[in-house]
Amino acid sequence: MSAAFSDETIERLIRISKEKPLLPETFVPWHEPVQDHDTFLPNVLISLQGHPLWDRLTPEQQRELGRHEVVQSMYSYAWTEGLACMFFNRRLLTLTPDSVEYRFLLRELIEECRHQEMFSAAIDKIGGKPITAGFWHRFWSKLTVRYMPDDGLFISVLAIELMTDIYGKYIRRDKAVLNVLRKVSELHNIEEGRHIHYAKLWLQRYTQNAGFFRRTTYSIIVLLNLYFLRTLYVNDTIFERIGVENPKAYTKAASRNLRDKLSKHCLKDTIEFVQEFNGFNAITRPLWRWIMNVTI
Ligand SMILES: [Fe+2]
Ligand SMILES: [Fe+2]
Repeated sequence: MSAAFSDETIERLIRISKEKPLLPETFVPWHEPVQDHDTFLPNVLISLQGHPLWDRLTPEQQRELGRHEVVQSMYSYAWTEGLACMFFNRRLLTLTPDSVEYRFLLRELIEECRHQEMFSAAIDKIGGKPITAGFWHRFWSKLTVRYMPDDGLFISVLAIELMTDIYGKYIRRDKAVLNVLRKVSELHNIEEGRHIHYAKLWLQRYTQNAGFFRRTTYSIIVLLNLYFLRTLYVNDTIFERIGVENPKAYTKAASRNLRDKLSKHCLKDTIEFVQEFNGFNAITRPLWRWIMNVTI
């Protein structure tokens, strides 16, 4: 990253956000009906696709799996964005209103609130019933949002944004996917691009001269966030809903398959970011291999 965190750069980001706001109400063609030929998630992002068990599903079950999983992924984005908003508010209270950081965070908060509303409308549009976060997800999230230092939380927000950005890119490019979902992804993709840019610039002050301990910690935080997102996504209730005989076996296969697919198709930007701050070392490399099955 060559640019620096300067008032001028952040002013430019604030200006784009104000002058070119993307409103979900008008940007997304909500009135368009869901057609029988529409799909909901590109194959590359469906957990079980590519595994032998995928071929045992009927085309209808395959489509339904995509529908449930896109609902689950949008629910997880919205949920983690809610957490990010809690953190941004926490940070706002420490800043002065005339600082660029204060003013940018307000823009980001506004956009993240719009995103959460947009995802809930999209879930509603396709008749989704999200499986909400369980006890441990809630427990750790509450704890970190309250007590984790700002740099750790910014790393967490960025890790999730880098993943949702990849998802957005795949969805918006797949013409078979319902247009409403493609437009939702397009909007999100554009605005998240700015958030990612900002988070990376902000983090430079911590990552640039970070020592071994700090680099290791950051790397583990990124990894845990990826794991967190993946586990909110594959669920045996979904396989029960689509009516397979042994939902637990399908869930297990889907979870492994998704882990391998993510490492193959979705982690490039995240890995590049970890490399930028030298986050792969003798401690973190085996963890990344074990949890995300990536060879670095
Ligand atoms: Fe967002
Ligand atoms: Fe964001």
